[in-house]
Amino acid sequence: MIYDIKIYGNDCLRSVAEPVTEINSEIIETLNNMVETMRNIRGVGLAAPQVGINKRMFVIEVEEGDVRIVINPEFLEMSEEKESNEEGCLSVPGIYKPVKRSLTIKIKYQNEKGEEIIEEASELLGRAFQHEYDHLDGVLFVDKVSPVAKRMITKKLQMLKKEANRG
Ligand code: CO
Repeated sequence: MIYDIKIYGNDCLRSVAEPVTEINSEIIETLNNMVETMRNIRGVGLAAPQVGINKRMFVIEVEEGDVRIVINPEFLEMSEEKESNEEGCLSVPGIYKPVKRSLTIKIKYQNEKGEEIIEEASELLGRAFQHEYDHLDGVLFVDKVSPVAKRMITKKLQMLKKEANRG
């Protein structure tokens, strides 16, 4: 099943998501649908709040066929060294701006089998982990762009918001 993506201006993108307490069949089905939805729109990541589900989980597919199912993630380390690179978000269509992120991170999470995974990541994957994690705290990449970039996108964001409130 393909979910509708919630767009900027929708309240569900701004709340702090709840931990997943039990990885049951409903959660697994939701995660499978999220993967299907992400692939359908050729995204590299999708967090549950983006489809209106207030749970701490997301899916990532930075390289085709290499899907990560990420439940209750926690950063163990985030490098002080940062790097700026362009980002976009399925919930903020048409806007791409550079965001500063830690160069490397170490993250702990559960996969769909409930196994604990600890992983180090950098570059595109490390960035995807940080971007998707932010969604679980109601944070969007446009919150983190430079003041100059922010000024450039203010109008577009207002238009997205208007549309979200109408729909
Ligand atoms: Co996003």
